[in-house]
Amino acid sequence: MTAAEESTTGFGHGKVILLGEHAVVHGHPAIAAGMRAGVRAHASPGKGVISAPAWELDAQVGDDSLPGQAVARLLERLKTDPTSLDFWLEAEVPARAGLGSSAAMAVAIARAVAARTGASEADALAAAAAAESVFHRTPSGIDAAAASRGCVGSFDRGSGWQDLPVKTTFELCIGLTGKPHDTGALVAGVARLCDTTPVARRLLETMGDLARAGMRALRDGDISALARLFTMAHGLLSGIGVSTPELDEMIHSARAAGALGGKLTGAGGGGAVIVLAAEHGDEVLRHWRAKGYYGFVTTIGHD
Ligand code: MEV
Repeated sequence: MTAAEESTTGFGHGKVILLGEHAVVHGHPAIAAGMRAGVRAHASPGKGVISAPAWELDAQVGDDSLPGQAVARLLERLKTDPTSLDFWLEAEVPARAGLGSSAAMAVAIARAVAARTGASEADALAAAAAAESVFHRTPSGIDAAAASRGCVGSFDRGSGWQDLPVKTTFELCIGLTGKPHDTGALVAGVARLCDTTPVARRLLETMGDLARAGMRALRDGDISALARLFTMAHGLLSGIGVSTPELDEMIHSARAAGALGGKLTGAGGGGAVIVLAAEHGDEVLRHWRAKGYYGFVTTIGHD
């Protein structure tokens, strides 16, 4: 097998947004954390096939599916023939669940292509960002940044991603509603709300303030303060119309199980919640299971 025939790989992390989703699209700061789990892409000589068995995804570069269009855009940016490679994806995060699956996929594929062509990491990330705009129309860029960095960081549209010092690692319960969502449509809905009801902009501003307070809580290792900020943020996210009965039910049942605080994460409209539960994590997962929701615990702030 020649070097050109060998497959190359790239990895992109899944992510959770800790504070500031939606607000970040409107120029306010947000905090995200990359997860250990993500998407690994294998690129090998082929005909432009994209397959991700875990997502039951079978597409062709350039076909009319979103992944097909997104990968076509990515390859164009990396000046790579769209029918020269096949992509096989090992996905450890669920698709369209608020955990950054599309950004993880885009970063993984861009890195796998860059490993063949010698494109720089900066070019790979720019290509991944271009793919993200196919999925989400007007992404802030936070998902792609978190997918590439994999750690805790702050992000705003002006200065981009900054790794954030985190005093102590902490456990986060992640709960899945099982309802997929359309991030682009939810972001567009919030923009419409700001046009028709301009006072909504103040809620977004406050979400940015909560993210700033969250940065301080993380730096000081004050998990109880972070949990309170989560609960406030969930209220504001409900206020701008991106929560759902399932997301609210998961937050309420986590609180009943002894959690310190929680919120929806990502675009909302389905997707996932994050909860800080200290020693009550198992209890939270049990409560969710009893209501038919799947959840798991992940550690945030690891090296
Ligand atoms: C989606 O993970 C986060 C949003 O703020 C959209 C974005 O920032 O691109 C809802």
